Amino acid sequence: MIERVHIPQTLHDADAADYLAAIEVRNAVEAEGYGTDEMAVTAAEDLPAFHNEFEPAELYLARVDGKPVAMASYEYQLDESVAWLGVKVLPAFRRQGIGSALAQHLEEVAGRNGRNNLAVYTASRDAPGERLPSPTGFGSVPADNPEVRFLVGRGYRFEQVERISRLSLPIEVDVPPAPEGYTLHEWIGSTPERLVDGFALLKTRMSTDAPSAGMEQPEDVWTAERVHALEEQNRKANRTMFLTAVERDGELVGFNLLNAPDERERAVIQWDTIVLREHRGHGLGMLMKTANLRQLQAARPGHPSIITFNAEENRFMLDVNERLGFVPIGYEGAWKKLLGN
Ligand SMILES: CC(C)(COP(=O)(O)OP(=O)(O)OC[C@H]1O[C@@H](n2cnc3c(N)ncnc32)[C@H](O)[C@@H]1OP(=O)(O)O)[C@@H](O)C(=O)NCCC(=O)NCCS
Repeated sequence: MIERVHIPQTLHDADAADYLAAIEVRNAVEAEGYGTDEMAVTAAEDLPAFHNEFEPAELYLARVDGKPVAMASYEYQLDESVAWLGVKVLPAFRRQGIGSALAQHLEEVAGRNGRNNLAVYTASRDAPGERLPSPTGFGSVPADNPEVRFLVGRGYRFEQVERISRLSLPIEVDVPPAPEGYTLHEWIGSTPERLVDGFALLKTRMSTDAPSAGMEQPEDVWTAERVHALEEQNRKANRTMFLTAVERDGELVGFNLLNAPDERERAVIQWDTIVLREHRGHGLGMLMKTANLRQLQAARPGHPSIITFNAEENRFMLDVNERLGFVPIGYEGAWKKLLGN
C-alpha cells in the first residue's frame, strides 16, 4: 500500500503521475490545516527542490483501491542524525490506520539510516477545549486535535509553537537610515559574487541562531556552491529571491530574504531574517525588513500579502513584524521523537 514516489525530471514525463498526486494530497491537507492555500507551493515550483542535492527529500504515497489518499515526506541532512517527517491523510480517509502506517514506515526508514532525531512541524487549527501548553511557556495547541492526539500517541514530544502571520500589501514603508558604520545592500535574484561567502555563513547561522527550543536542530552548513544551487532551484521554479543585507567592516552581519512566485496574485513568503547576536539592538532587523518591502513593492507591485513563520517566543522578531502590521493567521506545533528512547 505504501510506495516510494519516483521524482520525475519534468512534470510532462510519463512517470510524473505519482509525484503530482503526492503534491496534490499534501497541498489539500495543508490548505485545510492552515485554513488557507496562500502558502501552497505548486508541483512545478517544488520539483527543482527535489533535484537540489543539498536538500535531500523522499516522498511516499498510500493508495486505497488504487486512488492516492495520503502522502508522507522524509527530509534529512547528509551528515546529521535528524530527519523531518510529514504525514498527510485526506480527511475522508482518516481513522483507518493509514497515518500510522505511513509514520511507522518513515520511522523505520529513519532508524535504518541512523537518523534517530525525528522532527515534525505541522499546523494545528484552533479549536475549543483543553490546550496542550508549549514547554517554552509561549503558546499552546488544542489537545484534542487529530494531529495532536496522533503525535502524542506515537511518542512525539511537543516542543514549540510557531506563529504564522500575514501582512496585507501594499503598505507604506519608512526605511530608517542605516546606523553609523553599517552599510545596507539590496539585490534581486543572484547574490553578487563578492557577498556569496558572507551570505553562506549567515545561512549557516540561521540554522543555529533562530530559536528552536527543545528541537535540537543541527547546524546546517552552507557553502557558496549551495547558495548557487538555491539560486538555480529558484530560477527553475520561476520564483524570485529579494534580498537585503547589512555589512559592517567588510562582513555581512545580517540579511532578509523574501521569496516571490511569478504570479502577482499569489502571496510572497518571508524566508529568513537574521542579525548576528553581536549586532542586535541597532534596529538592523527593521532596517532590512523595510528596505526589502520597499524593494519588493517597487519591482513587483500587486502581490496581495507576505506570509511569515516565527517562533512564538521570538519576541524581538514578533515585535518587528507586529509593528509592520503582520497579524497572526495560524499556528504550527514543532514535535520531536528520539528513536531508541
Ligand atoms: C494526523 C493524521 C496524519 C492522522 O492520520 P490517520 O490516518 O487518521 O491516523 P490513524 O488512523 O493511523 O490514527 C492513529 C491514532 O491517532 C489518534 N487519532 C488520529 N486522529 C484522531 C482524532 N481525530 N481524534 C482523536 N484521536 C485521533 C488515535 O489514537 C488513532 O488511533 P485509533 O483510531 O485507533 O483511536 C491526519 O489527521 C492528518 O493528515 N492530519 C493533517 C496532517 C498532520 O497534521 N499530520 C501530522 C503528523 S506528521
